[in-house]
Amino acid sequence: MKRLVVLSGSGVSAESGLQTFRDNNGLWGEYRVEDVASTEGWRRNPELMINFYNGMRRKLKDTLPNEAHKIIASLEKDFDVTVITQNIDDLHERAGSSRVIHLHGELTKARSVFNEERTYDIGYGDIKMGEKAPDGGQLRPFVVWFGESVPKLSEAAAEVENADIFLIIGTSLVVYPAAGLVTLTRGNCKIFLVDPADINISLPNLTHIKDKATSGMKKFTEAVENLK
Ligand code: APR
Repeated sequence: MKRLVVLSGSGVSAESGLQTFRDNNGLWGEYRVEDVASTEGWRRNPELMINFYNGMRRKLKDTLPNEAHKIIASLEKDFDVTVITQNIDDLHERAGSSRVIHLHGELTKARSVFNEERTYDIGYGDIKMGEKAPDGGQLRPFVVWFGESVPKLSEAAAEVENADIFLIIGTSLVVYPAAGLVTLTRGNCKIFLVDPADINISLPNLTHIKDKATSGMKKFTEAVENLK
């Protein structure tokens, strides 16, 4: 089977009702990144950050995967699919995708402040200040904050380097190192972009399906029909 690698961002979850970050009503228009998604912010006010992610986790509980997530999962029938996502939601998994690499962590998991690898499934429950992991460290969201490294980057890079088809969906490609993955495709890799906006990306043999994720994914499926 041909290898299809997907790089998704918050735009793929927009039609499920989750906010993107940099669009007009995006999350970074309501909160300062430094306060809620950085190591600086954690040092300054960990409780504010814990509550920020508790709110996201509660909202995720009542959020459903949309048609785009479902189509991406259904492509596993005809392709060897790996989803690389910048999203911390679990909507790809809940739609049925079986191989998902989360570059920026997972909202439904927690970790100790002492250990970035050991994770604890917390589902959609809250983390509380003073709640400790078995190693005695304060529990915190298993999320990669600005100022932290992206542990799964090399695993993701290896997938992109071997892709026959590379689909970029719902990301402004402004955050590195995730955005740098798009430069790793082989010469004969077919690249597709699904996004209603013009994205600052110049790649050879790029097909831009200028549409939102749900309708764009239907067009993508038609476009790759003869690439199976
Ligand atoms: N369908 C498809 N794409 C959409 C839709 C939609 N319905 N709505 C918006 N988009 C597109 C926007 O045009 C934009 O290109 O989704 C993209 C969202 O971009 P950002 O808000 O920058 O989100 P993202 O690229 O995922 O951000 C990357 O930044 O703050 C960090 O860790 C955070 O993982 C996040 C990273």
